[in-house]
Amino acid sequence: MSPDLAFDHRFVPGDDEAGVTLLLLHGTGGNEEDLIPLGQDLAPGAAILSPRGKVSEYGAPRFFRRLAEGVFDHEDLLFRTHELAGFVEAAAEEYGFDPSKVLAVGYSNGANVAASTLLLHPGLLRAAVLFRAMVPFEPEVTPDLSGLPVFMAAGRTDRMIPPDNAQRLADILAEAGAEVDLRWRNVGHPLTYEEVGEAKEWLAEVLPGLRES
Ligand code: MLT
Repeated sequence: MSPDLAFDHRFVPGDDEAGVTLLLLHGTGGNEEDLIPLGQDLAPGAAILSPRGKVSEYGAPRFFRRLAEGVFDHEDLLFRTHELAGFVEAAAEEYGFDPSKVLAVGYSNGANVAASTLLLHPGLLRAAVLFRAMVPFEPEVTPDLSGLPVFMAAGRTDRMIPPDNAQRLADILAEAGAEVDLRWRNVGHPLTYEEVGEAKEWLAEVLPGLRES
């Protein structure tokens, strides 16, 4: 087994070999099982790759260390982002899915590591659904994300993620060329059914183009 595959994870094969793979990235305290029903609802038939974050915060899995709420350990974030990218590549080889058709679906800490992956490995993901994401770091070099579809759902009363921070992430991604669809609701940190519905509709528009490419 490739050392890069050394994440606890689930892989669920898709219905269609030429299809897309969802990289599911859970929030703090979650695990590789959590988002599988969400992924199956968002994109029925897509393959699913769902790792568990390797960092433990008092027993709660995360994808990178933080020093305090909303204050990230930058060095660990960079290291963990590269490690996750290596995992996706190794998993594509192991399970035989197309590495050029991977899209991320992340919630909270998982959405933040997905955003970090977009900024550090701009060729790895073809699209991203970011629920409750914030700026992982301010990039020194603007990556080329031309035309990359990104859906973001943010809450105006989210106490973990200040609205201006979510907006800043959308701006960074848009400046890099991504096609960002940022949706606001009068909600807090937990995800709502309405937002899942919106993401599903958005994916229904985006997925056919990815499948055919
Ligand atoms: C984080 O990455 O720390 C998030 O913004 C909040 C969380 O996941 O708890």
